[in-house]
Amino acid sequence: MKEFRLSKSQIEQLAEKYGSPLYVYDEETLRTRCREMKNLVSYTHFKPNYSAKANTNIELLKIIRSEGFHVDAMSVGEIILEEAAGFLPEEILFISNNVTSQEMQFAVDRGITVSVDSLSQLETFGRHFPGKKVGVRLNPGVGAGHNKKVITGGKSKFGIELEEITTIKAIAEKYSLHIVGINQHIGSLFLEGSKYVSACHTLFEAAREFDELEFVDLGGGFGVPYQGEDRLDLEKLSRQMQQVIDEFLESYRNKELEIKIEPGRYVVAECGVLIGQVNSIKVNYSEKYVGTDLGFNVLMRPVLYDSYHGIVVYNNSEEEEKVTVVGNICETGDVIAKDRVLPVMMEGDYIAVETAGAYGYSMSSNYNARLRPAEVLIQCDGTDRLIRRRDSLEDLARQL
Ligand SMILES: Cc1ncc(COP(=O)(O)O)c(C=O)c1O
Repeated sequence: MKEFRLSKSQIEQLAEKYGSPLYVYDEETLRTRCREMKNLVSYTHFKPNYSAKANTNIELLKIIRSEGFHVDAMSVGEIILEEAAGFLPEEILFISNNVTSQEMQFAVDRGITVSVDSLSQLETFGRHFPGKKVGVRLNPGVGAGHNKKVITGGKSKFGIELEEITTIKAIAEKYSLHIVGINQHIGSLFLEGSKYVSACHTLFEAAREFDELEFVDLGGGFGVPYQGEDRLDLEKLSRQMQQVIDEFLESYRNKELEIKIEPGRYVVAECGVLIGQVNSIKVNYSEKYVGTDLGFNVLMRPVLYDSYHGIVVYNNSEEEEKVTVVGNICETGDVIAKDRVLPVMMEGDYIAVETAGAYGYSMSSNYNARLRPAEVLIQCDGTDRLIRRRDSLEDLARQL
């Protein structure tokens, strides 16, 4: 599949029409990635649940739903957005983490399945909703991810240890709860699937301990290359997952059991780029800084995780130099790309930050009372459409 990259004239037209900074998404790429995830496993009751935290834009959610996905939610807010995109209660799984009973109530009232993340939350659920169906998030003790902040399997605040399955069952019995699902998520961004497959195996072993399961949810974390790494070998992963799943289903009592995965990044990362503009150039203590409008309020990943994003410069310069690309936020850490060799830039040039569709807009903020950018979709027919307007100063003032 060809990589999504905008031409110089497209960038200029889009920035002129919608302003900068600007998130731009490509529908065709989004649909391709959805289909790859959907075809990962061949089983009638296999269902990818898009992990909406990666990008909650309602128009993107609608496209993802139209590709046959269900969805997971981490908060009441995500549930509201997913409903607005057309997801039905039975298509949403509320994977809760340290929530109040009121948040649980919100989901239960709508008929949305809640998965709880600790024994204490299972007690809370049981006290408030005796006799109901519930899921539990298990922690298989194995983690994988691009940064220690996003490795969730093993020592982390997430899930219930496998050794506690007896206690889970005892609490369920005390409140006549039906444990209808188990889920896990070992971390975000693996480009090699062995730990994921091994964690699937572990979760299926745990599944045998429960009698009423309607679903087993294997989690997300499917990585994309940000820095030219080899792509995740989906064919190999698919073969390995298929084997583990087939082995399990052969001897499992519920032949209608739904098997879910929760990809977020894989679905949306590569369909998105972030356009920005150069506002200043300076040399400070012999380091050259390219100052842009891309503060970390717009894209937080480099500051939060030291993440790498490719930078494309849109000018005609034939010379290159080493620069540090920074934003407009009042913090020294406000760096998008450090010590990069890039075409020599001038004020007014446009740049694009690649692979920005996941955890980009969804982590953006109004820090420094800055406005969050607009979002635009390049549709399959090549036309562009505004799918979220830029914040306005009035939006900020509304909080007064
Ligand atoms: C419970 C859960 N599921 C799925 C995901 C999605 O992860 P990814 O975007 O790496 O696929 C996350 C990410 O944090 C998560 O916490």
